[in-house]
Amino acid sequence: MATLADPRIDFTRVDHPAPTSAPARVQAIADPGFGKVFTDHMVTIEWSDGRGWHDAMIGPRGPLTLDPAAAVLHYAQEIFEGLKAYRLADGAMALFRPDENARRFNASADRLAMPTLPDETFIEAVRRLVEIDREWFPTVEGGSLYLRPFMFASEAFLGVRPAKHYKFLVIASPAGNYFKSGVPAVSIWVSQDYTRAAPGGTGAAKCGGNYAASLVPHAAAVARGFDQVCFLDAAEHRWIEELGGMNVFFAFDDGSLITPPLGGTILPGITRDSLIRLAREEGLEVREERYSLGQWRADAASGRLVECFACGTAAVVTPIGRVASDDGEFTVGGGGPGQLTTRLRARLVAIQRGEAEDRHGWVTRVD
Ligand SMILES: Cc1ncc(COP(=O)(O)O)c(C=O)c1O
Repeated sequence: MATLADPRIDFTRVDHPAPTSAPARVQAIADPGFGKVFTDHMVTIEWSDGRGWHDAMIGPRGPLTLDPAAAVLHYAQEIFEGLKAYRLADGAMALFRPDENARRFNASADRLAMPTLPDETFIEAVRRLVEIDREWFPTVEGGSLYLRPFMFASEAFLGVRPAKHYKFLVIASPAGNYFKSGVPAVSIWVSQDYTRAAPGGTGAAKCGGNYAASLVPHAAAVARGFDQVCFLDAAEHRWIEELGGMNVFFAFDDGSLITPPLGGTILPGITRDSLIRLAREEGLEVREERYSLGQWRADAASGRLVECFACGTAAVVTPIGRVASDDGEFTVGGGGPGQLTTRLRARLVAIQRGEAEDRHGWVTRVD
């Protein structure tokens, strides 16, 4: 189990003048859904050119005051992360691989011409928020506390260049199930007209603009009756990339797995990386290689493809059942959760919740 390094920045703590009452909080965390309920506190840290990071504070969560010329509102210089705090069997709170979120945050910062934040400050900021708002941990089965660190350009300036002032924040949201319907398998619409990211673009960065651009294709998938959109590559419109917010895996009848390779156009998912390792430890062959929509359809039809699943922090591991595009529809395996999907999900969840041995040092206790 990893221990936390000493923070380099001192955080000022400001007490909340009017925290949520216990009965209101208990009601809010009973069935919070996803992304709708927020805790009482937040972390803020300022960055300015010449001064670096300063004024780190953990205090009451509340609205921000922004100049209408703030660069983020015009040129979308913004990045974020998403990770969860889990409750371990002994009641302690824990984070899953927060060092990887810190690393990816800084990779996103580099791509968006933003300042990087020391990894230990990122982790310490998240840790402090979990500590102060631990009473907000949801009581619903399988719940977690979702943490959203983010940074944006706050400088009031309309010239197109990297801003000279930024704000880093962390907010927290009690979370139940990501998918409203709580369905055992998701249905996927593969978009053959919209793409998510082109080579040389920002596909590997977790920047808000990527998600803004995915809203129309996602809405088009939902309008056709599907849960999620799946993107193809921008050059050939042929290779599977990822879903709007999850990576994908394909499992074959010989026990091997394929997942699309990282190459700058997909998000390097931490769940993806964890599953690759867990599967390889089981002796399964995992190939990070390109897989086409045509092959997907052919392999589903022949029975060579037995399972298919999506993965990410919010939904962990979710089986993919029905798949469709302008070329027609097909179903993978039995259309529901397969054995491998179920097993890998259970193994990962057990590690995250401290029910299985943490042989990789992935779990960081908060208290
Ligand atoms: C576009 C995209 N792909 C994949 C993922 C999965 O990444 P992770 O497993 O780190 O949550 C996410 C979620 O963060 C995402 O937004």
